[in-house]
Amino acid sequence: MAVNAKKCLKFDAGIWVIVVKSAARVCETRRGNLPAAARGRTISPWPSFVNIISDSIGLFMIHSLRDDFLVDPEVVFLNHGSFGATPRPVFETYQEWQRRLEWQPVQFLGTDIGEYLAEARVALGRYLNAAADDLVYVPNATFGVNVVARSLRLGPGDEVLATDHEYGACENAWRFMSRDRGFTYNSRPVPLPLPDASELLEQFWAGVTPRTRVIFLSHITSPTAVRFPVEAICARAREAGILTVIDGAHAPGQLPLDLPAIGADFYTGNCHKWLCAPKGSGFLYARPEAQHLIEPLIVGWGWGEGRTFTFGTDFLDSLQYPGTNDYAAYLSVPAAIEFQASHDWPSVRSRCRELVEQAIGRIDALTGLPSLYPQPAGDAYCQMAIAALPPIIDLPAFKKQLYDDFRVEIPCIQWGGRQFIRISIQGYNTVADVDTLLMALEAMLVGEAAGASLR
Ligand SMILES: Cc1ncc(COP(=O)(O)O)c(C=O)c1O
Repeated sequence: MAVNAKKCLKFDAGIWVIVVKSAARVCETRRGNLPAAARGRTISPWPSFVNIISDSIGLFMIHSLRDDFLVDPEVVFLNHGSFGATPRPVFETYQEWQRRLEWQPVQFLGTDIGEYLAEARVALGRYLNAAADDLVYVPNATFGVNVVARSLRLGPGDEVLATDHEYGACENAWRFMSRDRGFTYNSRPVPLPLPDASELLEQFWAGVTPRTRVIFLSHITSPTAVRFPVEAICARAREAGILTVIDGAHAPGQLPLDLPAIGADFYTGNCHKWLCAPKGSGFLYARPEAQHLIEPLIVGWGWGEGRTFTFGTDFLDSLQYPGTNDYAAYLSVPAAIEFQASHDWPSVRSRCRELVEQAIGRIDALTGLPSLYPQPAGDAYCQMAIAALPPIIDLPAFKKQLYDDFRVEIPCIQWGGRQFIRISIQGYNTVADVDTLLMALEAMLVGEAAGASLR
């Protein structure tokens, strides 16, 4: 279809103005289908996301999110899930906080830091629908899980129940403590595709015993990119007097969150993944009734009867100020929230979700392997999903070749004797990124099949 792209102009920082004939046609471009006539004259590649500022007079401002992010444009970056990526304005805020600290370190760290952190907690609390004093910034979700695993007074005879989809570093935190304190860590197998929420709850609950003291679960899992029905599990656990610890490393930014409604006793999450805040910005939430169970991981000025300052509660004092540090990532979280709000993130997310679904469908069609999600997938995944790979002889080498030969950054995962590829789609990704992945997979799987048949 031809769009009458009368004029296409590029302004600073990825702002484009395109004058077209009718609003109806711009709906096409909004999905990224810029017709060839316009593409040749203007934008290559087509911006990953467009913001239509005005559609009444045929003047459209288009904003490319790709230009906002610092990720190497030469890389087909389909692994937002591992470490996130930060938009330029948020990164500038982060560096500004670092400069402010260096300008007057004594004033910053000795006097002002409590107020700055309180403001940053208020913004995050609003975003998570939680009271600012019920959450504290920590460097990352691994840290958050460690705080809880070390704090809870578990011992011989006690059990922690989890699934076989948990993130390795966090499993290690529990296993380390179980070795130290003598409790048992049970990793319960949950099949793929996941059963529906009520069946999953029953299957998981069959692992609960009279000795189960804690349930530990990912909200969105790392190796399998599935969303667990944590609300239902937390509610049942509360009735049974079992504490719940939710690893929400992937949730903020991918899912709208209401922490009190989720009902976990403890919920840790990362802001540096899908919320796009700078690296090293995570949080630990504890519901008020459970906060007394938390102890400091690093014992510093915030502990003891004779403490010389307080942030208002023992929970905050235990964790908020573990000594001299660079707190800039925490203080930039409000800027990340603001960035997403000002870019209509619900629309970005739903566009990303569509593209993930297309990508997974195309990979499944290429491999001929069944989907790892229920059909239709509904809310089983968000911006990150997996597809099965046929047997790959050397998976790390396969992943390396995707990068070396095609510049595609994407994780290939070995889990439960199966092999997956995990695709992440963030606002800066385009259909062209998925096309490149498919082209690479097609070429490499043919080679792989030929190699296998020779053996
Ligand atoms: C489910 C899950 N939990 C925890 C983490 C750990 O995140 P971090 O390294 O930021 O602590 C990850 C990292 O990818 C994860 O996927």
